[in-house]
Amino acid sequence: MGFLDRFSNKEDQNAQTLDNKVVAFINQKGGVGKTTMAFNCAHALAKRGKRVLAIDLDPQANLSLLFGFETSEQHPYHIHHLMLNSVRELKALHVPAMVQDVMVKGEVDLLPSGQELSGFELTVAGVNFPRQLILKKLLEKNGLLERYDFIVIDCPPTLGLLVVNGLCASAGVIVPFRPDEFSRKGLSHLNEVLADIDDMGVVAAPKILAHIPNLVDIRRKQEEQDLALIAADVGAKNVMDPFFNRAQLVKSQAARKSVYDFQAKEFLGLQKQFNDMAELIDNWNVQ
Ligand SMILES: Nc1ncnc2c1ncn2[C@@H]1O[C@H](COP(=O)(O)OP(=O)(O)OP(=O)(O)O)[C@@H](O)[C@H]1O
Ligand SMILES: [Mg+2]
Repeated sequence: MGFLDRFSNKEDQNAQTLDNKVVAFINQKGGVGKTTMAFNCAHALAKRGKRVLAIDLDPQANLSLLFGFETSEQHPYHIHHLMLNSVRELKALHVPAMVQDVMVKGEVDLLPSGQELSGFELTVAGVNFPRQLILKKLLEKNGLLERYDFIVIDCPPTLGLLVVNGLCASAGVIVPFRPDEFSRKGLSHLNEVLADIDDMGVVAAPKILAHIPNLVDIRRKQEEQDLALIAADVGAKNVMDPFFNRAQLVKSQAARKSVYDFQAKEFLGLQKQFNDMAELIDNWNVQ
Protein backbone atom coordinates (compact mmCIF):
# COMPACT_ATOMS: atom_id res chain seq x y z
CA MET A 1 0.00 0.00 0.00
CA GLY A 2 1.43 3.37 -1.04
CA PHE A 3 1.73 6.27 1.34
CA LEU A 4 -1.21 8.18 -0.17
CA ASP A 5 -3.39 5.08 -0.38
CA ARG A 6 -3.49 5.08 3.38
CA PHE A 7 -5.57 8.22 3.26
CA SER A 8 -7.74 7.45 0.27
CA ASN A 9 -9.99 4.77 1.69
CA LYS A 10 -12.49 6.04 4.20
CA GLU A 11 -12.94 2.67 5.86
CA ASP A 12 -9.21 2.28 6.42
CA GLN A 13 -9.08 5.74 7.87
CA ASN A 14 -11.83 4.86 10.30
CA ALA A 15 -10.12 1.63 11.32
CA GLN A 16 -6.91 3.54 11.98
CA THR A 17 -8.40 6.13 14.23
CA LEU A 18 -11.11 4.15 15.99
CA ASP A 19 -9.70 0.65 15.68
CA ASN A 20 -13.13 -1.04 15.71
CA LYS A 21 -13.72 -0.38 19.34
CA VAL A 22 -16.61 2.07 19.59
CA VAL A 23 -20.08 0.55 19.35
CA ALA A 24 -23.37 2.47 19.51
CA PHE A 25 -26.68 0.89 20.48
CA ILE A 26 -29.21 2.64 18.34
CA ASN A 27 -32.84 2.69 17.29
CA GLN A 28 -34.95 5.81 16.98
CA LYS A 29 -37.84 3.88 18.49
CA GLY A 30 -38.19 4.03 22.24
CA GLY A 31 -38.32 1.05 24.58
CA VAL A 32 -36.71 -1.51 22.27
CA GLY A 33 -33.89 -2.43 24.68
CA LYS A 34 -30.99 -0.15 23.70
CA THR A 35 -30.08 0.65 27.30
CA THR A 36 -30.66 -2.90 28.53
CA MET A 37 -28.43 -4.32 25.80
CA ALA A 38 -25.73 -1.65 26.13
CA PHE A 39 -25.50 -2.16 29.90
CA ASN A 40 -25.31 -5.95 29.85
CA CYS A 41 -23.12 -6.10 26.76
CA ALA A 42 -20.64 -3.69 28.37
CA HIS A 43 -20.49 -6.02 31.38
CA ALA A 44 -20.12 -9.07 29.12
CA LEU A 45 -17.09 -7.42 27.50
CA ALA A 46 -15.66 -6.61 30.93
CA LYS A 47 -16.12 -10.27 31.94
CA ARG A 48 -13.88 -11.13 29.00
CA GLY A 49 -11.18 -9.04 30.62
CA LYS A 50 -11.68 -5.98 28.43
CA ARG A 51 -11.36 -2.40 29.61
CA VAL A 52 -14.79 -0.95 28.85
CA LEU A 53 -16.20 2.56 28.92
CA ALA A 54 -19.95 3.10 28.67
CA ILE A 55 -21.23 6.46 27.49
CA ASP A 56 -24.76 7.57 28.23
CA LEU A 57 -25.83 9.81 25.35
CA ASP A 58 -29.49 9.95 26.36
CA PRO A 59 -30.85 12.91 28.35
CA GLN A 60 -33.24 10.43 30.03
CA ALA A 61 -30.05 9.06 31.67
CA ASN A 62 -31.45 5.55 32.09
CA LEU A 63 -28.04 3.96 31.60
CA SER A 64 -26.53 6.25 34.26
CA LEU A 65 -29.29 5.17 36.62
CA LEU A 66 -28.48 1.49 36.00
CA PHE A 67 -24.93 2.33 37.05
CA GLY A 68 -26.37 3.94 40.17
CA PHE A 69 -25.46 7.46 39.08
CA GLU A 70 -27.66 10.51 39.42
CA THR A 71 -26.56 14.11 39.09
CA SER A 72 -26.42 15.90 42.42
CA GLU A 73 -24.85 18.96 43.97
CA GLN A 74 -21.64 16.95 44.43
CA HIS A 75 -21.75 15.59 40.86
CA PRO A 76 -23.42 18.23 38.72
CA TYR A 77 -21.44 17.64 35.53
CA HIS A 78 -21.82 14.95 32.90
CA ILE A 79 -21.28 14.15 29.22
CA HIS A 80 -23.13 17.28 28.08
CA HIS A 81 -20.65 19.54 29.88
CA LEU A 82 -17.66 17.57 28.59
CA MET A 83 -18.93 17.88 25.02
CA LEU A 84 -19.49 21.63 25.34
CA ASN A 85 -16.08 21.99 27.00
CA SER A 86 -14.48 20.45 23.94
CA VAL A 87 -15.84 23.18 21.63
CA ARG A 88 -13.61 26.24 21.92
CA GLU A 89 -16.25 28.58 20.46
CA LEU A 90 -18.49 27.83 23.44
CA LYS A 91 -15.94 29.11 25.95
CA ALA A 92 -18.54 31.20 27.74
CA LEU A 93 -20.40 27.99 28.66
CA HIS A 94 -17.40 25.94 29.78
CA VAL A 95 -17.47 24.43 33.27
CA PRO A 96 -14.50 23.52 35.48
CA ALA A 97 -14.69 19.74 34.89
CA MET A 98 -12.38 17.31 33.15
CA VAL A 99 -13.14 13.79 31.97
CA GLN A 100 -11.70 12.30 35.17
CA ASP A 101 -14.00 14.47 37.30
CA VAL A 102 -17.08 13.25 35.48
CA MET A 103 -16.09 9.61 35.03
CA VAL A 104 -17.75 7.05 37.30
CA LYS A 105 -15.21 4.27 37.87
CA GLY A 106 -16.20 0.62 38.18
CA GLU A 107 -15.96 -2.78 36.53
CA VAL A 108 -17.25 -0.81 33.55
CA ASP A 109 -16.44 2.90 33.64
CA LEU A 110 -19.22 5.35 32.82
CA LEU A 111 -19.49 8.81 31.36
CA PRO A 112 -22.95 9.64 32.69
CA SER A 113 -25.68 11.82 31.28
CA GLY A 114 -28.17 14.26 32.72
CA GLN A 115 -31.13 16.32 31.66
CA GLU A 116 -29.08 19.29 30.39
CA LEU A 117 -28.14 17.06 27.46
CA SER A 118 -31.64 17.62 26.04
CA GLY A 119 -30.49 21.18 25.23
CA PHE A 120 -27.39 20.02 23.35
CA GLU A 121 -28.77 20.48 19.85
CA LEU A 122 -29.90 24.05 20.51
CA THR A 123 -26.76 24.98 22.40
CA VAL A 124 -24.43 23.99 19.56
CA ALA A 125 -26.74 25.21 16.77
CA GLY A 126 -24.62 28.27 16.01
CA VAL A 127 -21.10 26.88 16.23
CA ASN A 128 -18.81 26.60 13.23
CA PHE A 129 -17.03 23.50 14.49
CA PRO A 130 -18.57 20.43 12.78
CA ARG A 131 -21.42 19.78 15.18
CA GLN A 132 -21.70 16.09 14.37
CA LEU A 133 -18.10 15.44 15.44
CA ILE A 134 -18.16 16.86 18.97
CA LEU A 135 -18.27 13.47 20.73
CA LYS A 136 -15.66 12.00 18.41
CA LYS A 137 -13.35 14.90 19.19
CA LEU A 138 -13.97 14.49 22.92
CA LEU A 139 -12.93 10.81 22.76
CA GLU A 140 -9.86 11.57 20.68
CA LYS A 141 -8.70 14.61 22.59
CA ASN A 142 -8.82 12.81 25.92
CA GLY A 143 -7.05 9.65 24.80
CA LEU A 144 -10.11 7.51 25.57
CA LEU A 145 -9.64 5.36 22.46
CA GLU A 146 -6.21 4.38 23.73
CA ARG A 147 -7.32 3.88 27.31
CA TYR A 148 -10.17 1.44 26.58
CA ASP A 149 -10.55 -1.77 24.59
CA PHE A 150 -14.20 -0.97 23.93
CA ILE A 151 -16.49 2.02 24.22
CA VAL A 152 -20.22 1.33 24.29
CA ILE A 153 -22.60 4.21 23.57
CA ASP A 154 -26.25 4.18 24.59
CA CYS A 155 -28.22 6.44 22.22
CA PRO A 156 -31.52 8.23 22.82
CA PRO A 157 -34.61 7.24 20.81
CA THR A 158 -34.17 9.83 18.04
CA LEU A 159 -32.12 10.32 14.91
CA GLY A 160 -31.18 13.86 15.86
CA LEU A 161 -27.82 15.54 16.33
CA LEU A 162 -26.97 13.63 19.52
CA VAL A 163 -27.40 10.30 17.77
CA VAL A 164 -25.48 11.53 14.73
CA ASN A 165 -22.67 12.42 17.17
CA GLY A 166 -22.87 8.87 18.53
CA LEU A 167 -22.76 7.42 15.02
CA CYS A 168 -19.86 9.59 13.86
CA ALA A 169 -17.84 8.54 16.92
CA SER A 170 -18.57 4.84 16.34
CA ALA A 171 -17.14 2.20 14.06
CA GLY A 172 -20.00 -0.24 14.65
CA VAL A 173 -23.64 -0.17 15.63
CA ILE A 174 -25.99 -2.71 17.17
CA VAL A 175 -29.68 -2.26 16.52
CA PRO A 176 -32.11 -3.77 19.02
CA PHE A 177 -35.68 -3.76 17.68
CA ARG A 178 -39.13 -5.12 18.38
CA PRO A 179 -40.43 -7.06 15.44
CA ASP A 180 -43.56 -5.23 14.33
CA GLU A 181 -44.83 -3.64 11.18
CA PHE A 182 -43.31 -0.25 12.02
CA SER A 183 -39.77 -1.51 12.61
CA ARG A 184 -39.08 -2.14 8.94
CA LYS A 185 -39.69 1.51 8.10
CA GLY A 186 -37.61 2.57 11.09
CA LEU A 187 -34.71 0.35 10.09
CA SER A 188 -34.71 1.67 6.54
CA HIS A 189 -34.74 5.24 7.89
CA LEU A 190 -31.70 4.38 10.00
CA ASN A 191 -29.94 3.11 6.89
CA GLU A 192 -30.64 6.44 5.19
CA VAL A 193 -29.03 8.30 8.07
CA LEU A 194 -25.96 6.05 7.81
CA ALA A 195 -25.80 6.72 4.07
CA ASP A 196 -26.08 10.48 4.77
CA ILE A 197 -23.09 10.25 7.11
CA ASP A 198 -21.12 8.51 4.37
CA ASP A 199 -22.20 11.18 1.88
CA MET A 200 -20.90 13.95 4.13
CA GLY A 201 -17.49 12.45 3.40
CA VAL A 202 -15.94 13.47 6.73
CA VAL A 203 -16.05 10.11 8.48
CA ALA A 204 -17.12 6.67 7.32
CA ALA A 205 -20.53 5.59 8.56
CA PRO A 206 -20.27 2.84 11.16
CA LYS A 207 -20.96 -0.73 10.15
CA ILE A 208 -24.12 -2.41 11.41
CA LEU A 209 -22.74 -5.34 13.41
CA ALA A 210 -26.08 -6.91 14.32
CA HIS A 211 -29.81 -6.46 14.57
CA ILE A 212 -31.26 -7.89 17.77
CA PRO A 213 -34.93 -8.80 17.96
CA ASN A 214 -36.01 -8.01 21.50
CA LEU A 215 -39.08 -8.57 23.65
CA VAL A 216 -40.15 -11.24 21.20
CA ASP A 217 -43.33 -13.12 21.99
CA ILE A 218 -43.21 -16.43 20.17
CA ARG A 219 -46.91 -17.01 20.73
CA ARG A 220 -47.74 -14.17 18.37
CA LYS A 221 -47.75 -15.40 14.79
CA GLN A 222 -47.63 -11.86 13.43
CA GLU A 223 -44.27 -11.25 15.13
CA GLU A 224 -42.83 -14.31 13.49
CA GLN A 225 -43.89 -12.99 10.09
CA ASP A 226 -42.59 -9.48 10.77
CA LEU A 227 -39.31 -10.96 11.96
CA ALA A 228 -38.98 -13.03 8.79
CA LEU A 229 -39.58 -9.93 6.64
CA ILE A 230 -36.97 -7.93 8.54
CA ALA A 231 -34.47 -10.80 8.28
CA ALA A 232 -35.09 -10.82 4.53
CA ASP A 233 -34.46 -7.03 4.39
CA VAL A 234 -31.24 -6.96 6.39
CA GLY A 235 -29.90 -10.45 5.73
CA ALA A 236 -30.58 -13.34 8.12
CA LYS A 237 -26.93 -13.57 9.17
CA ASN A 238 -27.13 -10.01 10.50
CA VAL A 239 -29.94 -10.89 12.89
CA MET A 240 -28.94 -12.37 16.25
CA ASP A 241 -31.00 -14.86 18.22
CA PRO A 242 -34.04 -13.11 19.66
CA PHE A 243 -34.38 -11.99 23.26
CA PHE A 244 -37.70 -13.01 24.72
CA ASN A 245 -39.60 -11.11 27.35
CA ARG A 246 -37.66 -12.10 30.46
CA ALA A 247 -38.58 -11.21 34.02
CA GLN A 248 -34.91 -11.74 34.94
CA LEU A 249 -33.94 -8.65 32.93
CA VAL A 250 -36.51 -6.55 34.76
CA LYS A 251 -35.36 -7.99 38.09
CA SER A 252 -31.67 -7.35 37.44
CA GLN A 253 -32.36 -3.78 36.35
CA ALA A 254 -34.49 -3.06 39.39
CA ALA A 255 -31.45 -4.14 41.44
CA ARG A 256 -29.16 -1.97 39.23
CA LYS A 257 -27.16 -5.07 38.36
CA SER A 258 -26.07 -6.87 35.23
CA VAL A 259 -27.23 -10.41 34.51
CA TYR A 260 -23.73 -11.57 35.53
CA ASP A 261 -24.33 -10.56 39.14
CA PHE A 262 -26.80 -13.42 39.55
CA GLN A 263 -25.78 -17.03 40.08
CA ALA A 264 -29.26 -18.56 39.70
CA LYS A 265 -29.72 -20.98 36.81
CA GLU A 266 -32.52 -18.85 35.38
CA PHE A 267 -29.91 -16.23 34.37
CA LEU A 268 -27.70 -18.61 32.40
CA GLY A 269 -29.60 -18.19 29.12
CA LEU A 270 -29.34 -14.39 29.22
CA GLN A 271 -25.68 -14.55 30.22
CA LYS A 272 -25.01 -16.74 27.19
CA GLN A 273 -26.84 -14.34 24.87
CA PHE A 274 -24.80 -11.38 26.11
CA ASN A 275 -21.61 -13.47 25.90
CA ASP A 276 -22.45 -14.10 22.24
CA MET A 277 -22.91 -10.36 21.68
CA ALA A 278 -19.56 -9.62 23.34
CA GLU A 279 -17.88 -12.31 21.27
CA LEU A 280 -19.29 -10.81 18.08
CA ILE A 281 -17.88 -7.40 19.04
CA ASP A 282 -14.55 -8.90 20.08
CA ASN A 283 -14.19 -10.76 16.78
CA TRP A 284 -15.06 -7.66 14.80
CA ASN A 285 -12.41 -5.76 16.75
CA VAL A 286 -9.59 -7.99 15.49
CA GLN A 287 -10.80 -8.01 11.87
N1 LIG B 1 -35.98 -8.84 26.87
C1 LIG B 1 -36.60 -8.12 27.79
N2 LIG B 1 -37.44 -8.73 28.68
C2 LIG B 1 -38.11 -8.00 29.60
N3 LIG B 1 -37.99 -6.67 29.74
C3 LIG B 1 -37.18 -6.01 28.89
C4 LIG B 1 -36.43 -6.70 27.88
N4 LIG B 1 -35.72 -5.77 27.18
C5 LIG B 1 -35.99 -4.59 27.74
N5 LIG B 1 -36.88 -4.72 28.76
C6 LIG B 1 -37.47 -3.64 29.57
O1 LIG B 1 -38.14 -2.77 28.66
C7 LIG B 1 -37.97 -1.41 29.06
C8 LIG B 1 -37.31 -0.65 27.90
O2 LIG B 1 -36.00 -1.14 27.74
P1 LIG B 1 -34.79 -0.12 27.50
O3 LIG B 1 -34.87 1.00 28.47
O4 LIG B 1 -33.55 -0.91 27.46
O5 LIG B 1 -35.16 0.39 26.05
P2 LIG B 1 -34.54 1.64 25.27
O6 LIG B 1 -34.59 1.30 23.83
O7 LIG B 1 -33.24 2.01 25.85
O8 LIG B 1 -35.62 2.75 25.61
P3 LIG B 1 -35.44 4.34 25.30
O9 LIG B 1 -35.59 4.46 23.82
O10 LIG B 1 -36.56 4.99 26.06
O11 LIG B 1 -34.10 4.74 25.76
C9 LIG B 1 -37.12 -1.44 30.32
O12 LIG B 1 -37.99 -1.33 31.41
C10 LIG B 1 -36.46 -2.80 30.30
O13 LIG B 1 -36.24 -3.30 31.59
MG1 LIG C 1 -32.57 3.82 26.59
